Amino acid sequence: MSSFGTFFRVTTFGESHCAGVGCIVDGVPPRMQLSEADVQVQLSRRRPGQAGAGSISTGRNEEDAVQILSGTEKGFTLGTPIGMFVRNKDMRPHDYGEMSQIPRPSHADFTYQMKYGFRAASGGGRSSARETIGRVAAGAIAEKFLKERYGVEIVSWVSGVGDIFLPDDKVDLANISREQVDQHMVRCPCLETAEKMTECIKAARADEDSVGGVVSCVIRNVPIGLGEPCFDKLEAVLAHAMMSIPATKGFEIGSGFAGARMRGSQHNDMFSIDAQGKMVTETNYSGGIQGGISNGMPIVFRMAFKPPATIGKAQNTADFTGSSTVLEAKGRHDPCVVPRAIPIVETMAALVIADMCLMQEARVSSAARLPAEVSPYFCDPSMSGDVSYNGTFSGWPNLSGESRKSELTKRKNELEEKLKQLNLQLDEADK
Ligand SMILES: Cc1cc2nc3c(=O)[nH]c(=O)nc-3n(C[C@H](O)[C@H](O)[C@H](O)COP(=O)(O)O)c2cc1C
Repeated sequence: MSSFGTFFRVTTFGESHCAGVGCIVDGVPPRMQLSEADVQVQLSRRRPGQAGAGSISTGRNEEDAVQILSGTEKGFTLGTPIGMFVRNKDMRPHDYGEMSQIPRPSHADFTYQMKYGFRAASGGGRSSARETIGRVAAGAIAEKFLKERYGVEIVSWVSGVGDIFLPDDKVDLANISREQVDQHMVRCPCLETAEKMTECIKAARADEDSVGGVVSCVIRNVPIGLGEPCFDKLEAVLAHAMMSIPATKGFEIGSGFAGARMRGSQHNDMFSIDAQGKMVTETNYSGGIQGGISNGMPIVFRMAFKPPATIGKAQNTADFTGSSTVLEAKGRHDPCVVPRAIPIVETMAALVIADMCLMQEARVSSAARLPAEVSPYFCDPSMSGDVSYNGTFSGWPNLSGESRKSELTKRKNELEEKLKQLNLQLDEADK
């Protein structure tokens, strides 16, 4: 289906060559300041035809200017569905004439035709990466909410093109910024490696070919407790979101496949308390998620993107009737998708985290409204009534007596205050 998320939910619409593409986002909290400029930043990082990137991306040039159609008033969200629209402008349907008869090898033409018996052949229809505009627009709103509410920061970068790699341990995960990533058009934060990656993409393009790549991502300041075991574990939903991006072929979190070659004694993330009194782990092979639930450490994951299917190089294949033929694809295509995939990965990650935050907020606030009995085992800071569960290590049951006492005293005072308010209301009602 074309919808994703439960509490923070996006539905995208549109094909590559129809009037335009966009989305409806439902569940955005009310009273948040929001303008088109907030959304445009990520759309402009995604758009084809970005200044300076012509030699490594498609020649299609779209402004991708977003229009907010609904869900805001005087620059603030209403809490009602937000509709957003981007017009398709730079279309060349005639480039796709031949491809309407010949399914592009490893593209979506064959499967769409078989599934629906009819398809928008021009420009790849809905399988085109233009569909991701709706996700990016919705995710840009999710990012804003996450930043303002929890201080969440999401940064992704290109860590591989062909066989050129920048290992994650060469990147300062605590500080890497989008500004650093955007210093080079290929979006790899190491300029020397970025240059090599650029040469690799240009060489593929010169051969009328394409090349694959890897995107890494870090999500910082993630609240503890996000993720819904058992089937909606945080990494499972992240994998779902990421693998729904066109051209993805792999997802790994934390140690990923490398973890399979390690021993438990090397791989276990030891707990300790940092200078701010926050429970942390000394290593982060878990990638910030344990048991499907965020543990407050940065979430770190990587994704493999295949070489785009549409290439000018002659390929021996078959047309829709099964007759052998040779396809030399025309049109304007990305020789490598990873530089443009960066904002898509970030905004999809934001959609997942925002949805999970709203889910956890619902649980936390409903728990906080339970009747007064206080169980000595019920003192998780996230459940203590204020919903700012920031991971501060202050109220777990196995803590020393003093911390537990202060947590219980705080809760007792809150309940006494609540009782006082209720008595006042009762008195009022009696009058
Ligand atoms: C940012 C981005 C740009 C893309 N550009 C192209 C392209 O120019 N040509 C192409 O064949 N595929 C491109 N793709 C990939 C196709 O959309 C994708 O391969 C196709 O829908 C088939 O889906 P699948 O690869 O997930 O099986 C792009 C993907 C992304 C994320």
